[in-house]
Amino acid sequence: MDPIVWEWIGAGIRWLHVIAGIAWIGSSFYFVHLDSSLKPREGLPAGAYGEAWQVHGGGFYHMVKFLVAPAHMPEELTWFKWEAYATWLSGVALLIFVYYFGAQLYLIDKAVLDLSTWQAIGLSVLALILGWVIYDGLCRSPIGRHDGLLALVGFGFVVGTTFLFTEMFSSRGAFMQAGALMGTIMAANVFMIIIPNQRKVVAALMRGEAPDPALGKRGKQRSMHNNYITLPVVFVMISNHYPLAYGGSLNWLILAFLIVMGVAIRHFFNTMHKGLPAPWWTWWVAGVCALIIVALSRATPADPAATSGLIPAPAAAAAPVALAEAADIVAGRCSMCHAKEPVWEGITVPPKGVLLDSPEAIAAHASQIYIAAVWTHAMPPANITEMTLEERRTLARWIEDRGQTAAN
Ligand code: HEC
Repeated sequence: MDPIVWEWIGAGIRWLHVIAGIAWIGSSFYFVHLDSSLKPREGLPAGAYGEAWQVHGGGFYHMVKFLVAPAHMPEELTWFKWEAYATWLSGVALLIFVYYFGAQLYLIDKAVLDLSTWQAIGLSVLALILGWVIYDGLCRSPIGRHDGLLALVGFGFVVGTTFLFTEMFSSRGAFMQAGALMGTIMAANVFMIIIPNQRKVVAALMRGEAPDPALGKRGKQRSMHNNYITLPVVFVMISNHYPLAYGGSLNWLILAFLIVMGVAIRHFFNTMHKGLPAPWWTWWVAGVCALIIVALSRATPADPAATSGLIPAPAAAAAPVALAEAADIVAGRCSMCHAKEPVWEGITVPPKGVLLDSPEAIAAHASQIYIAAVWTHAMPPANITEMTLEERRTLARWIEDRGQTAAN
């Protein structure tokens, strides 16, 4: 297909995915907030559990929640589900577009596991299905009766699977696979549990019967899981722009702390919405996680021998590397993509606008090159142009020398 058209299709799917995600998260946050802020009051209609007043858009809203069928069933009942389905469907389309069509660049890293394109796609699809089956099984098992224990086991499960992914896919692919798994679990929670249970509850109420309380309880549990993993999932989705997040050797551990951080922040807001005392400790947890993430990233360069990092460079350092030498390496390994007119098939414009086609441009991008090709091995993608460790070390010395010269 025409690469320009292809590129625009990608932009369109991404746009759709972001919009659908905003709509889903927006309605989900809204309803969790509404549910928490409902207050019982004398004089509410029969069957009403609580009410909340809200002001927005120049008027007042009087929200009343009925736990049994209201005396008059409304003619129109709005269901919230297409936000979730559209987010998942567009997410799958994006996964296929970027990671399956571009598997050689983004999903596979031959140095991790020598997979063919179809093997990698097969593994990825299988992992999404199996991941859901295991998660769903955990929720239905005796563990699922204890929310706290289930959360802990679920957390271990996600981190463990992410670790497995890092043993199968490129680091960037592994991170996205973990995000896709969490997103799939969220959407399947809506499709397989929350909405079907909701339908059964509504049907029972319409018949004037008391619905099985287990239905609502199970739906609520899944809904809370979705609510708490929202923030980590959104981070994973944008993480492919941050090689430091996905590219380090302990990226799965970074993801673990990101999950704790996101859950803690969410917990703060959920508690506040209930009108309970603010749990300020959650910000301490989030702050400590943030520090740990930075420290982990600082402590795990892809190739410790290449970087002096915080440790002063050895006194007997080799001769300084000239810009020309660095530029030669970059020209050989990077410029086929990062040029005004890239010569790599399928790449039509310099990715992310990063131009590395002249010594000046390369010097101007020194710190980005350091992060993408020295500190992490995110670039070249899947080391497709076979950059050697020796070349990365030379780039490291060039950039670190420059840094020292600038500092003096
Ligand atoms: C096969 C093509 C290809 C090669 C070779 C390549 N890159 Fe990239 N590079 C990309 C693509 C595609 C992206 C955009 C990734 C994304 O979508 O976030 C990118 C993004 C980048 C970014 C921006 C990261 C960000 O999101 O802020 C930097 C910096 C970079 N590359 C540096 C390099 C360096 C240095 C080399 C050589 C060591 C290199 N690239 C080799 C394709 C390539």
